[in-house]
Amino acid sequence: MQVFYTGAEWSEIRLRLLQKNFRIGLVPTMGALHQGHLDLVRRSKENCDVTVVSIFVNPTQFNNPEDFAKYPQSLNDDLYLLKTEGADYVFTPSVETMYPQKSQMTLDFGPLERVLEGAFRPGHFNGVGLVVSKLFHLIQPHVAFFGQKDLQQVAIIKRLVLDLSFPIEIQTVPTRRENDGLAMSSRNRRLDPVSREKSLLLFQSLSRAKEELLNGTSWLEVQQKVNRDFKQAEGVSLEYFELVGTESFEILKAFDPNQKSSLCVAAEVGKVRLIDNLPVNA
Ligand code: PAJ
Repeated sequence: MQVFYTGAEWSEIRLRLLQKNFRIGLVPTMGALHQGHLDLVRRSKENCDVTVVSIFVNPTQFNNPEDFAKYPQSLNDDLYLLKTEGADYVFTPSVETMYPQKSQMTLDFGPLERVLEGAFRPGHFNGVGLVVSKLFHLIQPHVAFFGQKDLQQVAIIKRLVLDLSFPIEIQTVPTRRENDGLAMSSRNRRLDPVSREKSLLLFQSLSRAKEELLNGTSWLEVQQKVNRDFKQAEGVSLEYFELVGTESFEILKAFDPNQKSSLCVAAEVGKVRLIDNLPVNA
């Protein structure tokens, strides 16, 4: 496994790989890796000849400076895990490499930008769009892998690829969960034991809501019940619990079994902001 830091280093490596007709897979991450990230690496290894993992805590996608400052970093552990998993290359650029100057352009994803994560984290998707575009240009992979855990991010990336004609295939990988259902996330490391227990409410309410919807309970009734459950949970503050069209990310007012839809939740548990989602009908 080789670690590199700049686009220039990669250009040389890439030329050699292309001569061998290798298919290159990219797994973009912000590090603090867990099994969910490693599922993306495994998927890339199954589908590509060479897997590049990027580790970069992207400052422009943090709308909250405290969240950025507290974002967990564990580069040595990450490199060990990636080596064990068989990743071929790891790109760990500096902020100066990715942002030689403060970016002056902004990306607006239209309707996608104005709901859920877009609405609650202003500027977040601009930062994600910028950094992923930069990674796509620098690495020029054939395929890039993203997790369903960040469902709206997947929709944003697909839009980015479509609108800017990136010649890159996007593959999505299912959410990896802890045994008790909590979606794996780098942020989980910041949960104290009490908050860790309370964090289960996210997946529990998603699962219950899904079951109720499939059993015919109205979305209005389901949402009201979830809101009540969250109000009663001390130390947990619900930001949103919504039903959306899985691809359009349009907020739905009623459940339609014939339309692909997903439940999405965001809540602050202790001082840690967590998100999760569950497809209702695939
Ligand atoms: P990060 O949160 O590190 O996640 C990197 C990738 O791993 C994303 O595609 C994310 O959806 C996926 N992932 C995270 N937790 C997962 C889980 N439990 N199961 C499956 N996949 C999971 O998402 C980002 O970084 C950044 O926004 C990034 C795309 C790298 C741009 O900076």
